[in-house]
Amino acid sequence: MTYLGIDIGTSGVKAMLIDRSGRPLGEASAKSVEPVRPHPGWSEQNPKDWWTATLEAVDKLAQSHPKEMAALRGVGLSGHMHGAVLLDADLEVLRPAILWNDGRSAAECGEMEAALPSLRTLAGNIAMPGFTAPKIAWVRKHEPEIFSKIGKVLLPKAYVRLLLTGELAEDMSDAAGSLWLDVGKRDWSDELLAVTGLNRSHMPRLVEGSAVSGHLKPEFLRRWGIGQDVVVAGGAGDNAAAACGIGAIRPGEGFVSLGTSGVLFVSNARFSPNTEGAVHAFCHAIPDTWHQMGVILSATDSLNWLSRITGQSQAALSQAAEAQFTGPGEAIFLPYLSGERTPHNNAGARGSFTGLSQSTDVAQLAQAVMEGVAFAFRDCQRVLNDAGTTFSRLLAVGGGSKSELWLRLIASNLNTEIALPADGDFGGALGVARLGLCAAEGVAPEQIMTMPAIKRVISPEPELVAKYSEHYRRYRALYPAIEEART
Ligand code: XUL
Repeated sequence: MTYLGIDIGTSGVKAMLIDRSGRPLGEASAKSVEPVRPHPGWSEQNPKDWWTATLEAVDKLAQSHPKEMAALRGVGLSGHMHGAVLLDADLEVLRPAILWNDGRSAAECGEMEAALPSLRTLAGNIAMPGFTAPKIAWVRKHEPEIFSKIGKVLLPKAYVRLLLTGELAEDMSDAAGSLWLDVGKRDWSDELLAVTGLNRSHMPRLVEGSAVSGHLKPEFLRRWGIGQDVVVAGGAGDNAAAACGIGAIRPGEGFVSLGTSGVLFVSNARFSPNTEGAVHAFCHAIPDTWHQMGVILSATDSLNWLSRITGQSQAALSQAAEAQFTGPGEAIFLPYLSGERTPHNNAGARGSFTGLSQSTDVAQLAQAVMEGVAFAFRDCQRVLNDAGTTFSRLLAVGGGSKSELWLRLIASNLNTEIALPADGDFGGALGVARLGLCAAEGVAPEQIMTMPAIKRVISPEPELVAKYSEHYRRYRALYPAIEEART
């Protein structure tokens, strides 16, 4: 028997098959059309493109692994979080989806909080432009005709689920990022829905990530050569999915993700909000479990920016920084190129370099960028600690974790061991394939969600820990000063 995980990302879809013991059997991927930015700070994608990429990826897998696909029993879906997919009463798409990295709704966030003073308490989260509800508040104000036609609002992977199964359903971990969920109760909140002019009838049904949400339609059983019923699990938002893939489901287990955006993710036994620190306090993808995240909007994207303006590759920049590294540099970088979520919740914040001199070279700028991202993770750790969360080791995932120096900077700034998984696949697609297995076979998540083999552990270095404490103090002093100068 086999189980399939489908991870719907903004740049493409990845599909992975596993067996009953959780061992990967094969994978395939397909690129999506990149998001478009019709205005600075906006980010949109056509939901149909996710569907095309999903079919392409699973078709490829059915061709390369026909026997394994024929034995399919369960599917799990993972998706980029927060995106607003607007459907009319006939479940047709009304406009391009507004994505997680779209910052247009800052004004609406303020208006929502003013209209419902208990919003932060109810949602356990701040109204941030990245979340789904403020995007609908923006549509209501700026595109009233479209708003009046809304029949359902879905998150990206729920749209793919609708086409695969005909079901309107969402899992708790993704639903938590909508700002319409009472996260502690794991139920839609009538008050939160009402503040954007919606009600429960506009929402899909809620299911746990490891529970059955529907069944593959017969046309897909035929298309992929499957003779038996296949259940589709609730699945997970991409961060909770990644946590399932690396086995971070028990309290205090977590990861640091160095991708385009950066995420510090920790599992919790109970709902643990800290809205003051812009912590994301969400449901995990398995019952009775929650998680917190600090989210920084430009992690490897900060190095990507330096790469674009210097014409040097990201790899060349991080190698140059590593070659000359002797300790904290003079220059300090604030990585707020796309604004920031944790801890500032400020879509208008901007990045900056300070401490430049005649002798500052590109390698030093690259080091400052990597340090700035490490400081931003340190900010995330601070606000998670403020909410009572502690951890002693984090797994490192994402493209930036290839840089030894970046991992050392993070280990010494967080004063936490960073464990680097051995090469292999342990991302969102694996995580939700595991949820598909749980849903199909009734297996308990703890039995299957193990940690990957660890290649190397990067420990904090006492000398760097001490030196960076002083630099972090300087980093923290800069944001208020630069904000004052900017506004
Ligand atoms: C999390 C977030 C991102 C997206 C990326 O809050 O916005 O990590 O889920 O896909």
